Amino acid sequence: MGSTVPSVPTKLVDVEVATTARRNVPAVVLVSTGPMPGPGGDGIDVSDLTGKAGETVRHDEAWTLGVGTGTQSDYRTAGAALVRALSGEDAPKTADVLLTPDFDAEGMRAFVLGAALGGYRFKVTGEEAPKRVGSLRLVTGDTGFEEVLTSAALKAHVLATATSLARDLANTPSNVKDPNWLATTAAKIAEKVDGLSATVRDEKWLRQQGFGGVLAVGGGSARPPRLLELTYGTTGPHLVFIGKGITFDTGGISVKPADGMHLMRTDMAGGGAVISALMAVARRQLPIRVTGLVPCAENHVSGSSYRPGDVVRHYGGATTEVQNTDAEGRMVLADAMAYAVRNLKPDLLVDVATLTGAMKVSLGLRTGAVFTPSAEIAAAVVEAGAGVGEKWWRMPLLEEHVEAVTSEIADYRQCPSGPGGITAALFLQKFVGDVPWAHLDIAGPARSEKVYDEVVAGATGFSARTLVELAEKYSR
Ligand code: BES
Ligand code: ZN
Ligand code: MN
Repeated sequence: MGSTVPSVPTKLVDVEVATTARRNVPAVVLVSTGPMPGPGGDGIDVSDLTGKAGETVRHDEAWTLGVGTGTQSDYRTAGAALVRALSGEDAPKTADVLLTPDFDAEGMRAFVLGAALGGYRFKVTGEEAPKRVGSLRLVTGDTGFEEVLTSAALKAHVLATATSLARDLANTPSNVKDPNWLATTAAKIAEKVDGLSATVRDEKWLRQQGFGGVLAVGGGSARPPRLLELTYGTTGPHLVFIGKGITFDTGGISVKPADGMHLMRTDMAGGGAVISALMAVARRQLPIRVTGLVPCAENHVSGSSYRPGDVVRHYGGATTEVQNTDAEGRMVLADAMAYAVRNLKPDLLVDVATLTGAMKVSLGLRTGAVFTPSAEIAAAVVEAGAGVGEKWWRMPLLEEHVEAVTSEIADYRQCPSGPGGITAALFLQKFVGDVPWAHLDIAGPARSEKVYDEVVAGATGFSARTLVELAEKYSR
């Protein structure tokens, strides 16, 4: 039932930029490593402080907030720590953050991202949410940079909203979030954004069109698959973002072990990131065309499940020999990629997926994997991520494993042995033709067990901001 989850999207801390502080509002003094207090620090004893990023201390009328050496990561950490500190019973409604004279647009972006997202919370409960600061005024000197800083703050807030929506969608439990819920919830939100339109295709349409991968994976569930298509813009380069939308992954007939299976409610994190990125691109009115495709399916176990040994025909006609029904992500992505290549003429196609446990082993939980034959596209993704606080590392499409993707009884083999993240990418590469392409495997960073920087435990929303920033790069 929809009523058992918080309404999406969650309300974030608001920010405004101004040149004057307010009366009777708590002030926040920034302290850099040293400790070196910034404006407003006269008369505050900082001798016991270090100025380490995120160090938050309440003094009589003011707060001090450590901002370290002022790196982007320091400011994200500081923004998030401040909002966490201004939470609970005696949380003020608002506070003035007294910025240092050297505070620039990059610092602003990082601080606002941290402040907006650090207070993120997802809990299904009948109780009222704990109190938290509602807004922050960021007070700059009267230096003439106010406009630049204001637009940096607004942009960061849009990026944070995208991350937050991606988290909400991924955190929503799978008893609520079936393929139809995911596609129609996204479509409902999209309808309210200027310039964005949504189409939801049902299983009948998918059958007529030959989406054999989506139908095979979704066939074991009582809750049928969907294809969500989001469209933005009419001119400029055309980017197509494709996100894995598996609303729950039991593994299917090749069933997963019980331990940790519950985490597979976030197996649509790639799809959630694509949905959220499209919202943000439209809200920023970027001069570009972007299409978002999210094949939505539940990978379940039943008498109608697909089987190892099956041969599945994808959109466009290519066939795959199924080896393991738990490698379902690539089955649904292959259909969507073939559809995009045939119908959308992308200038760049990017797919995003919680695709392989192997990538969690390779890069851990805080770095996403980029696979692409193009050094330029790889650099664009890494750079886009660095600008918005998401780390990416380029992985190789190893030539010596390409042959293993071909099958004796079909065109392709679904999961050849070898390095799992790489062979999955090589399988997907069969479906991109000669379209410029990047595959982003976010199995690691899509979830966190810990609170750190602007991240809280649960779904992280990872990759939504990178996609928006990438669209921004292609708009220039
Ligand atoms: N959704 C999983 C990958 C995953 C695992 C994401 C852990 C996040 C955390 C994916 O569908 C999967 O099951 N992949 C298999 C592929 C294998 C059967 C070739 C895997 O990685 O084990
Ligand atoms: Zn999966
Ligand atoms: Mn799986």
